[in-house]
Amino acid sequence: MLKKLALSAALVLTTGTTGGVALASEGGHTEDIAFSFEGPFGTYDPVQLQRGLKVYTEVCASCHGLKYVPIRTLADPGGPGYSEDEVRAYAKENFEVFDPDLDDTRPAKPSDHFPPSNDPNAPDLSLMAKARKGFEGPHGLLINPLFKGIGGPEHIYSILTGFTGEEKEVAGTTFYENTAFSTGWISMPPPLAGEDVEYDDGTPATLEQEAEDVAAFLMWAAEPKMMARKRAGFMAVLMLSLLSVLLYLTNKKLWYPIKHRGKQANL
Ligand code: HEC
Repeated sequence: MLKKLALSAALVLTTGTTGGVALASEGGHTEDIAFSFEGPFGTYDPVQLQRGLKVYTEVCASCHGLKYVPIRTLADPGGPGYSEDEVRAYAKENFEVFDPDLDDTRPAKPSDHFPPSNDPNAPDLSLMAKARKGFEGPHGLLINPLFKGIGGPEHIYSILTGFTGEEKEVAGTTFYENTAFSTGWISMPPPLAGEDVEYDDGTPATLEQEAEDVAAFLMWAAEPKMMARKRAGFMAVLMLSLLSVLLYLTNKKLWYPIKHRGKQANL
């Protein structure tokens, strides 16, 4: 019985690491990407976040909102690294918000949030990178998420690059075949084709590059304090290790006279 259990556990573990992609959750295929923010010391790349913001602003924002994200956070440490003046100019240039005091729309200010979705069918993207998981791996053992992360940004990347070009119409709605989407058919028309934006830093705007950048940006939007959290975690582990050493030495010292009493009596 035990042997059998061990055998099946080993089987599950090996299929988990090699066949993880095939077992990926949400039904679709998720590419694994080595993002800069993965791992215990991973950090966001501010230049990548700036590129991702550009893709979001110029392409995705026509349908998707980011209503839980305050625009001012673009100047927060650990984010895209803009100055407050740059954020003010960005908000004014790109977004109009409805102001109940004026009973009218006005250019956005850093104190506003990004606007909500324009297209009622397009989900808000504020938390999308954490709402989706790309890797699950073998049946709830969390092996894949442990090594590769939960795969939210990878899911977004895979959706953006997973269009096959096939489309069909069902009850008046057009669906586009997508290898990463749960049902295989998504109602979002392919938003990126490559060369959709012109990057300020000269990076070639290929489809894969744009998808990776916007996925990284959306991860930051969903978890802007990730770096601070990792730093706090690291400090906690460090302090606890130090405490363990001190406790060990204190324990040794406290018991020393008792442990050595017999020896002293023999002298
Ligand atoms: C023309 C409007 C439109 C544009 C532009 C657009 N989307 Fe979408 N998007 C949609 C709609 C509609 C859905 C809902 C699709 C569905 O549920 O079938 C969607 C769904 C999604 C989803 C959810 C997939 C899931 O797993 O549920 C993600 C992620 C997404 N879009 C990301 C993006 C990104 C990133 C961009 C910009 C590069 C973008 N979209 C541009 C309309 C759009």
